[in-house]
Amino acid sequence: MAKRSVWSDNRFWQRSAAWVTGFASILLIWLTFDTSAQISMGTDADLQNGVTKRVPAPTVINYKITYEMDTTRGHEVPVIGEKEMFFGRDDWSEEEAAELLHLGKLGSQAKNCMNCHTLLGNGAYYAPDLTKAWLDPAWGPEGSLQSMTGKNTKEEAMAEFLQHPSQYPTHARMMPDLGITADEAQGLVAFLKHMSSIDTNGFPRNFGKIKGAVHGK
Ligand code: HEC
Repeated sequence: MAKRSVWSDNRFWQRSAAWVTGFASILLIWLTFDTSAQISMGTDADLQNGVTKRVPAPTVINYKITYEMDTTRGHEVPVIGEKEMFFGRDDWSEEEAAELLHLGKLGSQAKNCMNCHTLLGNGAYYAPDLTKAWLDPAWGPEGSLQSMTGKNTKEEAMAEFLQHPSQYPTHARMMPDLGITADEAQGLVAFLKHMSSIDTNGFPRNFGKIKGAVHGK
């Protein structure tokens, strides 16, 4: 009997399929566990002890957030600095901060920010990505938005803008008034500040950084 080529042997293809499926399943399970560990939120104790977490605790709103070049990784990473005031306080407890962030998250869903903006890359491309909006120079001490709103702090300026965006148009496209209340605005600003502290592997790249948001600049 003539020897058959391995390529035309059914058993060869069946075994290959079984091995590939098995390997892919193990890889997916491993990746699932690895990702869960990377994206789980840190705690207030981590923050106080300088333990770096990809997603810091909600109490990160009590700290200054800067952006620094990480030469080994080849992109900038958020760095949590000293304490700073957030709506007049730098002692938001874990519970209070979590509650504020939750209010902001619900607000962002109820008012559908993603209908126009992107958050962590998800959403629409009508308006700017909000992932690092907290570090946008426009909100800095010399920024156009902070001075336009007449507020003395970044968080107050942002909250004012969110409540009355149509009063402060800067681009050809204007953000419409969404009926955001003062409380919701505070929550949304906390939500945006927390989001800017998430280590997103340098995403989005090349956004304009606020003066003082990058060390040594
Ligand atoms: C209907 C579309 C639309 C929706 C919905 C919307 N925005 Fe906007 N937003 C805009 C546009 C357009 C701009 C740019 C306005 C400008 O610069 O004058 C903007 C600007 C902003 C800015 C300033 C951008 C920056 O880089 O600093 C922030 C912050 C912001 N929006 C937050 C939000 C939040 C939070 C929500 C949800 C609660 C939201 N927006 C919902 C259209 C929208």
